[in-house]
Amino acid sequence: MTATETGSRLWNISTNPSTSPTPSAERDAILANPGFGRNFTDNMVRAKWTADKGWRDAELVPYGPLLLDPATNFIHYGQAIFEGLKAYRHADGSIKTFRPFKNAQRFAASARRLAMAELPEELFVASIEALVRQDHEWVPTDAEKTLYLRPFMFSTEIGLGVKPADSYEYLLIASPAGAYWPKGLKPVSVWLSDDYVRAAPGGTGEAKCAGNYAASLIAQAEASQHGCDQVVWLDAAERRWIEEMGGMNLYFVYGSGDSARLVTPRLTGSLLPGITRDSLLTVAADLGMRADEGQISVEDWKEGCESGKITEVFACGTAAVITPVGEVKSRTHGSWSVADGGTGPVTSRLRQELLDIQTGVIPDRHNWLHAIC
Ligand SMILES: Cc1ncc(COP(=O)(O)O)c(C=O)c1O
Repeated sequence: MTATETGSRLWNISTNPSTSPTPSAERDAILANPGFGRNFTDNMVRAKWTADKGWRDAELVPYGPLLLDPATNFIHYGQAIFEGLKAYRHADGSIKTFRPFKNAQRFAASARRLAMAELPEELFVASIEALVRQDHEWVPTDAEKTLYLRPFMFSTEIGLGVKPADSYEYLLIASPAGAYWPKGLKPVSVWLSDDYVRAAPGGTGEAKCAGNYAASLIAQAEASQHGCDQVVWLDAAERRWIEEMGGMNLYFVYGSGDSARLVTPRLTGSLLPGITRDSLLTVAADLGMRADEGQISVEDWKEGCESGKITEVFACGTAAVITPVGEVKSRTHGSWSVADGGTGPVTSRLRQELLDIQTGVIPDRHNWLHAIC
């Protein structure tokens, strides 16, 4: 029995879908140009947790607004976590997700860090199966378009006491997503954030909690003011070690051809443990490249680019898969380019390989795909 079968059997999600779903012509118009996070499918899944009864009332219902008491705890104190993953339409019409149990595990880890109830992994995956099956017509057929899935959870206890809540709500919504880079893959410029930090030792950096993203916005705005696309975070203690880029992890490529070697910042507790990052450690090894976790300082990055030791740098995450980094700017370390500022061969090769696995173009040799319908 696979884990999915277990999940589906253990968690009965009652199904009460929308009786007035989006007309197909309207849905097709949305799918022709979905953008990101602008439109949502007809339904959603919700489940409740209370201290006395645990998880219950898992149901698929029409997508719609939530009614919240103004004293609902999470609005004030931010006990709120989320995940992000995609459903891919394969050429044979089937729909698959990529490593959803990894997202389920990270969701549970985020819940633990924020003193919230943990959603069982099987319920997390069963909710995805239920929503994607119901709203399967929303999974785009065009290459590079996907259905983005957004599981999230927040405290629902009413009251202003600062404490772990005694009730939580889990929700899953879905949104069709276009190619992240509609005009093709283009290297990004990054701003090293010397002044603001994303996460500190002992903090919430490895949890996917709402507050981390709120705290990042000012640095992202600073990056934009300096003409950069994204912000790169340094460690909080020494402001020296590279952590991650915006909502993506980073990889550094040393050397080229058969001797190319990859290094990604190790997980110190203040980085989000990306599922794409983890997958690429394996995919790089499959392609005969050495890939390690390590520590890269700002000086290593700058000196490595100036001497030519570092040949490529890229960021990786569910939304954009892999994005090359072409240029670096900072207030205290100056500016430099990564090689010629273009997209290198290792970056392109890894991106294609991972996309081909996700979309079923090549065999799923690590059993990462989870069939839905
Ligand atoms: C801060 C941060 N780092 C890294 C990632 C990449 O993680 P994943 O590959 O699981 O999408 C994300 C996206 O979830 C993120 O928000």
